[in-house]
Amino acid sequence: MNIKLSTESALKLNSDLVVLGLFDEKNTKDTTYIELEKFMNKTISTYVLGKEKFKPKFLSSYTLPTLGQITTPKILIIGLGEKAKFNSDKARQAAMEIAKKIKSFKNVSIATIAFPDETANTENIQAITEGLILGEYSFDKYKSEKDTSTLKSININYPGADKKLKSGITKGEILAKATNFARNLSNEPAQYATPTKLAEIATNLPNIKTEIFDKSACKKMGMGAFLAVGQGSDQPPKFIHMTYQPNKKSVKKIAIIGKGITFDSGGYDIKPPSSMLNMKDDMSGAAAILAIMQALPELAPNIEVHGIIAACENMLNGSSYKPGDILTAKNGKTIEVDNTDAEGRLTLADALCFAEELNVDEIIDVATLTGACMVALGHFASGIMGNSDNLIEKIQKSAEKSGEAFWKLPIWDAHMDSLKSDIADMKNTGSRYAGASVAGAFLKNFIKSTKWVHLDVAGTAFLDKPYKGFIKGATGISVRTLLEYITC
Ligand code: BES
Ligand code: MN
Ligand code: ZN
Repeated sequence: MNIKLSTESALKLNSDLVVLGLFDEKNTKDTTYIELEKFMNKTISTYVLGKEKFKPKFLSSYTLPTLGQITTPKILIIGLGEKAKFNSDKARQAAMEIAKKIKSFKNVSIATIAFPDETANTENIQAITEGLILGEYSFDKYKSEKDTSTLKSININYPGADKKLKSGITKGEILAKATNFARNLSNEPAQYATPTKLAEIATNLPNIKTEIFDKSACKKMGMGAFLAVGQGSDQPPKFIHMTYQPNKKSVKKIAIIGKGITFDSGGYDIKPPSSMLNMKDDMSGAAAILAIMQALPELAPNIEVHGIIAACENMLNGSSYKPGDILTAKNGKTIEVDNTDAEGRLTLADALCFAEELNVDEIIDVATLTGACMVALGHFASGIMGNSDNLIEKIQKSAEKSGEAFWKLPIWDAHMDSLKSDIADMKNTGSRYAGASVAGAFLKNFIKSTKWVHLDVAGTAFLDKPYKGFIKGATGISVRTLLEYITC
């Protein structure tokens, strides 16, 4: 799909469809609305809004054939709701809805989108672009019948607008394509997206330097927690370190870490079938990090970014780690295994130590870490916590722009109390209550002084039903928020 900014009259663009975005208010003075009224004998005001009583409530829609009155055969009116409540997140959601509608028409190859004149700004144009690409997404790789769209090109039309606004399209395309890259990877079955596959993808990213550490290299580095989790699988573990180095002198150095459990059976503390069903998605954090690293050279921020993934499978065999085992993490701290299903935090422990040794200014990890976070926030928001309120707030600001929600949860010393072990420095699980914060408290043991933020995306990485324009399945959560943060 080719997306362009056009600044002439929407009716001159020779498209198969004009999409007219309307606020829910009277006396619309928008250029395209007025033109359509003029050439179509006031059909919209007298018939659609009048006789048919169509109300442009947010995401409502009305399709209208033009029967030769204008050269464009069809108009899709999309409600944008109240003008005062409109923002870039609404623009993105409307565009997602438009993409789905266009896909269902099966005969539109060129479409022109005309939103109200006053919505012409870079942020909205970026959001519309993202919405079109995110809304069109499907995962049909394994279907014999492909879910192809006939749509070839889209004009985002703002008559008389500044051509510079097209930078919004460029950024929107990069961010949305990165998100879909992560969605594809998370939607892949675990038989495909193995630790070896993730390492291969990382190695092949253009303009990114990648180093892969295998089992023996990880052993030498003292990654006893990470290696324990993967030791019961036929798939060898891979520790992945990617680096994006800006061309100009970097102003900051950060590390982003993704939980990379390519399948989480629970291990000997095995999950019941219904909980295991979607556990191919337990590498969604890793998928997000790969997607972000893939997008960085094109966005070219002046920040050195280290992408880190400790990839392995949590499986059962005669070599698996067991409840009661005592592990030594990279920083020398010992961990008593209380539950083999709390494996993500063990892999992250070594990854956090590795990141801090790179002397970065900030560390951000993304992990499908706890069912408790999913219970607390559902698919509505991810959890955000860490040791720097300032960094948390900055990421929340970026999330506002991307339309993703990150809700702050505490990490208090009290959360650490339940992790006390009689024979080691700590256990890997504690209180069932406040489980997301307890997991956060566990991770905090592997950070000395670097600013650190942990994103728990257990409830938001994979949807069991459509939500906010996203279809069932992987959402690519945190890709756009972190790219906004890195490029802001
Ligand atoms: N991968 C799961 C968390 C998860 C749950 C992700 C639901 C997505 C959806 C994680 O490894 C896990 O099993 N956590 C346990 C921790 C418990 C044993 C303390 C959990 O949340 O039940
Ligand atoms: Mn688990
Ligand atoms: Zn897990």
